[in-house]
Amino acid sequence: MNEKQLAGEKAAEFVKNGMTVGLGTGSTVYYTIRRIGEMVKEGLTIKAVSTSSSTTRLAESLRIPLVSIDEAGKLDLTIDGADEVDPAFRGIKGGGGALFFEKIVAAASERSIWVVGSDKLVDRLGRFPLPVEVVPFGYSQVYRRLFDKGLNPKLRMSGENRYITDSGNYIIDLQLGAIGDPEALNDWLNGITGVVEHGLFLGMANAVVVARQDIVEVKER
Ligand code: A5P
Repeated sequence: MNEKQLAGEKAAEFVKNGMTVGLGTGSTVYYTIRRIGEMVKEGLTIKAVSTSSSTTRLAESLRIPLVSIDEAGKLDLTIDGADEVDPAFRGIKGGGGALFFEKIVAAASERSIWVVGSDKLVDRLGRFPLPVEVVPFGYSQVYRRLFDKGLNPKLRMSGENRYITDSGNYIIDLQLGAIGDPEALNDWLNGITGVVEHGLFLGMANAVVVARQDIVEVKER
């Protein structure tokens, strides 16, 4: 079994009867969702909230009952992947482009668990490009501010076209190398008009399920 599958399936053990569960996006949480699908087939009763169109398609194919985030009220638990996780459980997310809905769902959850292979654990965030979601109107103005600040912005493309998120926005990836002060960068990005959200998830994960080769560990904050 590969690390993604091991971590993903382990996290499904945290899902209990009667819960409202946020379903993240990506190739690791894919295994969680697949396992939850089996548990539902075996009689588990839950309501789930999706974080992306791809996760909605997967959950529907597995007959996992979905509700909208507005119908859901408070979520008990969200399980999601991450692109990087540091020792303080700060993370970069959004490699798959779903960061905006992922952050909304995580913020509405009592508890968030990330599922990762060991390659996602880092001492310092920033080697993975930090996604910044921006509204299309005036995006080049935001791009210029990011460029002037020396943040090495790159507009995300999908083939010849600009990449478009589920909420109709663009993504600008920042090639930072290392982020010295994630909280300061978080605050600065949040202050830019035209930025919808970004992939720094600070203080949001309560636990990380990490697989290293064939060993899986649950790290609690
Ligand atoms: C989706 O936008 C991301 O936040 C994913 O959660 C993240 O990229 C992890 O994905 P993988 O599990 O596929 O690496």
